[in-house]
Amino acid sequence: MAERDPAIDAAGAARCPGMTWTDLLDNDSKPVPEILRDERYEYRGSEPLPATVYTSAAFAEAERTKMWPHVWQFAAREEDLPEEGDHVVFDNAGRSWLLIRQADGEVRAFHNVCLHRGRKLQLKDGWTSELQCPFHGFTWNNDGSLKHIPCDWDFQHLKRQDMSLPEAEVGRWGGYVFLRETPGGPSLEEYLAPVPEHFKRWKHEECVTAVWVGKEVAANWKVTMEAFMEAWHTIVTHPQLLPFTGDANTSYNIAGDNVNWALTPFGIMSPHVDPADKKQQWIVDEFLKYNGRSTDNYENMSDPFAVSVPEGITARKALGDSMRANFTETFGRDHSDVTDAEVLDAFVYNVFPNFAPWGGFMPNIVYRWRPGKTPDTCLMEVRVLVRQPPGAAMPKGPEMKLLSIDQPWSDAAELGVLGHVFDQDMENLPFVQEGLHASKNGLVQLGDYQEIRIRQFQQTLAKYLAA
Ligand code: FES
Ligand SMILES: [Fe+2]
Repeated sequence: MAERDPAIDAAGAARCPGMTWTDLLDNDSKPVPEILRDERYEYRGSEPLPATVYTSAAFAEAERTKMWPHVWQFAAREEDLPEEGDHVVFDNAGRSWLLIRQADGEVRAFHNVCLHRGRKLQLKDGWTSELQCPFHGFTWNNDGSLKHIPCDWDFQHLKRQDMSLPEAEVGRWGGYVFLRETPGGPSLEEYLAPVPEHFKRWKHEECVTAVWVGKEVAANWKVTMEAFMEAWHTIVTHPQLLPFTGDANTSYNIAGDNVNWALTPFGIMSPHVDPADKKQQWIVDEFLKYNGRSTDNYENMSDPFAVSVPEGITARKALGDSMRANFTETFGRDHSDVTDAEVLDAFVYNVFPNFAPWGGFMPNIVYRWRPGKTPDTCLMEVRVLVRQPPGAAMPKGPEMKLLSIDQPWSDAAELGVLGHVFDQDMENLPFVQEGLHASKNGLVQLGDYQEIRIRQFQQTLAKYLAA
């Protein structure tokens, strides 16, 4: 255990020696927007967490009753249900929801349960002109009002006004559709702040889902999510990323109760790599090798990461120039004022409790995690959003490809090299879950800085459960 340096004696003040996020921004080849300098770290204590938050069935039940009904949940993307009558089935935390596009373009979210004897009304996403229960045929209009009861002479005790489908609040931002089961509390805009401000440049409403893969994971949803809230496990879990990833240079930020973000630079060597004799070109070469590309003939490659780095230029600047040119051509939008950071780095935001959109101008990853039927499993989803050219029609999104608990992410070829990285993460998670059950002291420790996002998340969850 390192002795505290008196210069950084304040709890939470210590940082990885060397390059900081601010240094990188100061060296960016383009003027940097203020939101990238909006660093917000705040020390929140160093107490351990009880392992039971991840393993206890009673804790999971408390989440179901005290937390999930009160939060804005990311339920769908607009492109999942573009036309009137399109619907999405969203099951989470013991509830089933049916989001339906209305005639006026709005989206409404109904409890997806027949008010007769409780059959789920729809089982998968699709299109419908009405909602007829497949059991006895009770039927609702797409606006949730009752349409028809077969043998209605037998149901004269039911009052029509009580027979509309119960409904959740719906909010929309950036191409995302959210729902909240119990009305009241902050508006969606208030809840998401400062995400809408930060994403003004990155406009997720101009993007559509190109890839959508889900996988059942043998670990608690929070164990799984928290493995994506810090970059510092790269050193042993993803060592192949170290030559071009500033894992320990990551900036960690928290804002209020709901939002946190990590900014992880790419195109620099990890502080764990010995820089002796390593040129900037080596960073690029290692990246290409990791992608399974030869480094023999850069000029003939279409990959924007295939660049020759001239003497005196940083890999970040050379890669930034290449990416800006490539994105301008590919997406039909001018990227010339875009910073190196915005085309290279991982800007991973989390909104409480389980929504994680990436910022920047790279095709944006979006994560979501949902609890399983026991505390020991969850569903993790990965989408990749792609920017559309101006004026282009927004194509309907793909269906989710669902991987079983035994399938690797790399079975989803559409994830490319990401699948391999996620599989490395998955090699830890079931054994974290087993270890938490087996733990002698029943405690989980967190780093004061690099794991501040986990601490903030757990503190917010605890507030809901205490309410
Ligand atoms: S359960 Fe739906 S009509 Fe009977
Ligand atoms: Fe990872």
